[in-house]
Order: sequence, then structure tokens, then C-alpha cells
Amino acid sequence: MKTADTIAALFMTLLGGAAHFVSAGEPSAPAFLPVIPRIYDDAETATWHVPLALGKVSPSFLTSSYFYARKVRPIYRSYPVYHPDREPAGYLEKLKSLEPEVLWDDTGKRPKLETEADWIRAGELVYDAPISPQPLSDSLHFRDRELLKRIGMPIATDGSLPGLHYVIRTKGQPELARFSCGTCHTRVLPDGVTIKATQGNLPLARIEAHENRTGKSGDEAALRLAAFEYHGTPWFTNGPNTKLKDWTLDQFVQAREACPPGVYPNHNGGLLVPARAAELRGIKERRYLDGTGHMRHRGPSDLMRFSDFHQWGSIYASFGTFQPQAIPEPETQERYSDEQAYALALYVYSLTVPPNPNPPRTTEDKAMVARGREVFMDSGNRCATCHDPKQGFTNNKLTLASGFVVPADHPEKAHIMPRSVGTDPAFALLTRKGTGFYKVPTLLGLWYRGPFEHNGSCATLEDWFDPRRLRDDYVPTGWKGPPGTKTRAVKGHEFGLDLSAEDRKALITFLRTL
Ligand code: HEC
Ligand code: HEC
Repeated sequence: MKTADTIAALFMTLLGGAAHFVSAGEPSAPAFLPVIPRIYDDAETATWHVPLALGKVSPSFLTSSYFYARKVRPIYRSYPVYHPDREPAGYLEKLKSLEPEVLWDDTGKRPKLETEADWIRAGELVYDAPISPQPLSDSLHFRDRELLKRIGMPIATDGSLPGLHYVIRTKGQPELARFSCGTCHTRVLPDGVTIKATQGNLPLARIEAHENRTGKSGDEAALRLAAFEYHGTPWFTNGPNTKLKDWTLDQFVQAREACPPGVYPNHNGGLLVPARAAELRGIKERRYLDGTGHMRHRGPSDLMRFSDFHQWGSIYASFGTFQPQAIPEPETQERYSDEQAYALALYVYSLTVPPNPNPPRTTEDKAMVARGREVFMDSGNRCATCHDPKQGFTNNKLTLASGFVVPADHPEKAHIMPRSVGTDPAFALLTRKGTGFYKVPTLLGLWYRGPFEHNGSCATLEDWFDPRRLRDDYVPTGWKGPPGTKTRAVKGHEFGLDLSAEDRKALITFLRTL
């Protein structure tokens, strides 16, 4: 598969190779002997979470001894899933003839881990490792051309569907698996080039809507229970997740169908307050994780734990006296090894934003970018105070959700801007991620990302900077809103909305170079 990273890696290899010859043929890369942090440390976990707006329901987590009692999940070799029209002849038969192959477990199988580059490569393996294999007989909808077309499944240059994999755990029985990091964080551009570790665009919520509708994810009662476990907030009487126990099958289907690619109703968020998947490039410099900044990011161990919680662990948190889901016996559950999670963190940290392949070339275009930069830096427009170019186009701070009053003794007060950008506060106030804040997001990679805003309400930058989005008769171009919404104002963040048409165009052209 041709990816921007593969190309970058190729250059790196060439450069590395050149340096290698200069140094008289000795292996140039020094051995890398990292002190691997532990994913779970009770003291670190205890101070990890930014308090929720309703402090008494701030989560507490299980102990490290519980987390470590889970089995290490072996990482099997995985194989691409192709669009049915692009699949090599005899592909599935070939897969059926292959032996299972474990690449990384805790019984001695591991990829080469000598240099830092080895660790980073191994981390990409973890990034791509799916975690929930299903028999092929349950996965036939991934071969349904009509469905793939209807949900807008992106297809990579080589005909594969990035973010989905076949794994072989038993010979003769390939399984289709999802929920690798890439399922939500790998982006396929219109020309089929893929970019990993960003806001992905596999329409996962729409696949799940189909599975809900066709009974693949259980009956209505099962959907209600799962939704309550994932999102329930019994302490709110008027929140987006308050009535989940009364929802009908149609409501589940419609809420999921309403989520465009790049937007997903993550656990602890909600079906009526989905989240746009985050940009992971540049994350090493970010102080908080997630749109509401609900986890601190103090170093690799926080990202390692986040990876585990994000895919698995956080639904076993308790919120005050509320325990959303019965705690399973740890031996029945799987986890990353410290090594695997560390390699994953190194991989994600190593990635930078690929440059826009269509940079401004003509004198006119260059002048437009220069003008856009001026608009951005203009103190009247204030962009740079929050999206600081010196810090990856964010100031790493938290802004207030409308209506939230920060307690005077808030532990993060040094990093809180005492103002609100005025976007819809529901996600930041009425969910299990509700810290009362929206963090200032990075603007890196805007040229390939979207939809924008914490719920992904605006499909493009043109829409985000269109003043008509403030009107009640506006039809959002990204996530439209809860099912049944015909029109909805996308409120707040009014910066740049009063620009002249020319300056707005220049600003957007500049933003697409970041
Ligand atoms: C099912 C979809 C899904 C999968 C699978 C997934 N993520 Fe995410 N991820 C999201 C969404 C959606 C967000 C944004 C959540 C929010 O803002 O509340 C996010 C946010 C993040 C963030 C926070 C970044 C920031 O700056 O806010 C990190 C880090 C992250 N994911 C890493 C990972 C890693 C590593 C993996 C694999 C171990 C992974 N994700 C798997 C959907 C997913
Ligand atoms: C007071 C701080 C502040 C200022 C000033 C500000 N922003 Fe933002 N910006 C934010 C916050 C906070 C968000 C996220 C809001 C949300 O998701 O609810 C955001 C979101 C964005 C997004 C969407 C990014 C994404 O990942 O979804 C873009 C693009 C953006 N800002 C560009 C700009 C530009 C250009 C300017 C100047 C015209 C500007 N901002 C001024 C704080 C600010």
C-alpha cells in the first residue's frame, strides 16, 4: 500500500543508508535500550483524569494488579481486506491455506527490537493489530458492494479497505477483524493514498447502523443495554444519554447513520454527541487527550494507558457509585504488554504531518498564502493566541464550555483559558467525558482532515468559516445533529466569520498548508 509514511520511510532509509556508508560500513544505528514504562501504575492512574464538571462522578479505575492479570493479546500476522471488485483471484482460498502466525506475544515471539527504528516499526504493527475477530460468516456485509457504496467506504490505491484486516488464529478459518487504531485513525484520501494516525474516514458508525438493523449486534434490549453501559449517565435527568433505556431499534440505527466518516460515538461520549476522531500526529506535544481534554498526557505511559482504555478499559471505570458494566474476571480479558504499548507510543510520537501534495505554486497562490498567514497572525483575529504556531497550532490549553464555572481550586487552573468559544456545550458538560472544557485543537493536517469541530458538524473549512452556520435554519454539512434534525445552528467559535470573502479564502488556503 502506498502511504505518505511509506514514502517518508523510504526517504529516511535512503538518508540513513547514506549516513551509514559515511561511517565506514559499521551499523550506524545505535542499540536502543529503553527503560520501558509500566502501563499501569496506581499512583499515576489516580492523578491521570481531569476532574469532571460534576466532580462527584469523576471516574476511578481498577487497580494495576487487575489490569496486569489480563492475558497479553498475541498479535497475529494480518492481511488486507479488499473491496470485492479489487480482491486478487483466489485470495480467500489462499488465506484458508495459511498457518496462523503470531508476531508478538509474551512467550518469546517478538519482532526485531534492537534500534529505535525497530521499535517504531514494531509500534506500527501494534497500531495495525485488530482486536475483535469475527467469523467470515458474520462478516459477509463487508463484501456487499451496495452497502460499501452506500456508506461511502473509502478504498486505498491497492483496492484494500484500510482499518479492516483478516487474521488467521486457526488454520482454514480466516476471521475479519476491526478496532485496530487504524479503524478510526487511518485516513484514505480521494486518490487512495492513506495517512495513518489521524482522523480516519472508515464509516464505522454506518457499518454498525447496518449491523443494528440486521440484528447482527443483538436485539433491541441488547442494544439498549450496550448503549447504557457505554454512555449511560444516570445522574443527569436531561442529558443526551438520559433516555437510552427507552430507545427503539430505529433510534439506534438513525443515530449511528447520522455519523459521517471521521465521526464516531465513542464510549463515554454518546450517540447524540458523537466525537470527531482526533489527529494523532504531533500528539507528543499535546498536554491533554480527547476533545474535552479528559486525560492528562504527561509522557508515554499516559498514552500507553490511554490506548488500552480507549479500546477496552474505560467502560470498567466507576463514576461515583455508578459502575456501568460488571467487572469481568481479568483472566478472560486481553491487554497489551508494556513492550507492545510502548512501541505503539513511540510509533505515534514519531509521526509528523505530511506536507500538502498540492502546495501553492503560482505567484498568485503564494501571495494568497502570504495574505492568509497575515490574516491568521493579525491580532484582531486572535487565531494565534489560541492556535500558537510555535506549539503546533494550539496553546495546549482548555477553554470553558458555555455555562461552566471552574472551581477556584481546579488542579489544571494554570492551563485553563477563562473564556468560552461558545460551541455546543453538551459533549463537555453532559457526558462521562464532561470535564467542562474543550481543548484548543491543533490545526496541523487540516488539508486532509474533516469534518471539523468536536462533534464534526462542519464538513469543510469553507463551512467552518461560513457565518451562515450560526443561523437556526442552517443545515450542517458534517454531523447533522440528533436524528430528526432538519436544520441546526453550529454555534460558537465566531473567529474569522466576519472576514471579507477574499481574506476568508486566503485564510483557508493558508490553513491548508499546515
Ligand atoms: C472506534 C474508533 C477508534 C479506535 C478503534 C481508536 N480510536 Fe482513538 N479516538 C477515536 C475518537 C472518536 C477520538 C476522539 C474522542 C474525543 O474527542 O472525545 C479518539 C481520540 C484519540 C486520542 C486523543 C488524541 C487527542 O489529541 O485528543 C488518542 C491519543 C487516540 N485516539 C489514540 C488511539 C490509539 C493509539 C488507538 C489504537 C490503540 C485508537 N486511538 C483507536 C476513535 C478511535
Ligand atoms: C479563544 C481561543 C481560540 C481562538 C481565538 C481561535 N480558536 Fe480555533 N478553536 C478553538 C477551540 C477551543 C476549538 C474547538 C472547539 C470545539 O470543538 O468545540 C477550535 C477549533 C478550530 C478549528 C477546527 C479544528 C478541528 O480539529 O475540528 C479550526 C480550523 C480553527 N479553530 C481555526 C481557527 C482560526 C483560523 C482562528 C482565527 C480566525 C481561530 N481558530 C481562533 C479555540 C480558538
